[in-house]
Amino acid sequence: MRTIVKNMLEPTQIAMIKIYLKAWRNVVFPVIPFVHNIIYQLHVAIKNSLHCIIQKLYYTPLFLSQISSPPKQLQLYSGMPLLLGTVNIQMGNHCVISGVSTITGRVWGKKKPQLLIGNNVEIGWQNTLAVGSTIQLDDNVRLAGKVFLAGYPGHPINPMDRAADQPDLPQQVGDIHLCRNVWLGTGVIVIAGVTIGENSIIAAGSVVTKNIPANVLVGGNPACVIKQLEY
Ligand SMILES: CC(C)(COP(=O)(O)OP(=O)(O)OC[C@H]1O[C@@H](n2cnc3c(N)ncnc32)[C@H](O)[C@@H]1OP(=O)(O)O)[C@@H](O)C(=O)NCCC(=O)NCCS
Repeated sequence: MRTIVKNMLEPTQIAMIKIYLKAWRNVVFPVIPFVHNIIYQLHVAIKNSLHCIIQKLYYTPLFLSQISSPPKQLQLYSGMPLLLGTVNIQMGNHCVISGVSTITGRVWGKKKPQLLIGNNVEIGWQNTLAVGSTIQLDDNVRLAGKVFLAGYPGHPINPMDRAADQPDLPQQVGDIHLCRNVWLGTGVIVIAGVTIGENSIIAAGSVVTKNIPANVLVGGNPACVIKQLEY
């Protein structure tokens, strides 16, 4: 299309068009006081109402149909988590889960992977819960955005097996257990086999490779105890 137009027009005409297009790109429509504000408020109100209706009538029942023990008062927002592989999900009451999150279960194991979520758990935006054997989130756990719980690695260590698309090995898979009140900051990664003790906080961007005791602030890569938490 571009070539056809170029062949039809003189170079001076093309130059003029380019100037017009550049000028158009810089045009900013002036804000009309009150009018644009009212349109904005209407836009937000309509968008939120539609979002609320779609969540309640469509996404939430669809997602609940995939949970073996349907919880009370599940609050899903921004759609519905993507479910991949095979995983059995149990969930307590009053949980809040972002629809922009992924729950994936390892498909090569003998037992179906288990995701056990307690009461009053929040799972934020862009989380990935990769369930190898079991991931357990106890009551009041908070996962901020972009958290990755890596219960299985997805590929084997041996490069030949990896190139041949062989799956990861059972010994690379491990349970992840976040005890009551644990809070993971933005971008935290937890590796298979790790238990994080009650009330502990993992600072943003940390990579947790070993068990963490209760009541500590942890940070870094690999994550280390920064301080004891006192309330
Ligand atoms: C967990 C968090 C709140 C702790 O804050 P805090 O108690 O005020 O901790 P401080 O800022 O006093 O830091 C204590 C120490 O930890 C270190 N630290 C803080 N955050 C860190 C991180 N992400 N990685 C590594 N070290 C970190 C500080 O440098 C400081 O070290 P120092 O004692 O040698 O100076 C904070 O680290 C954090 O992760 N904030 C982001 C939370 C988040 O992701 N929220 C999203 C919405 S849920």
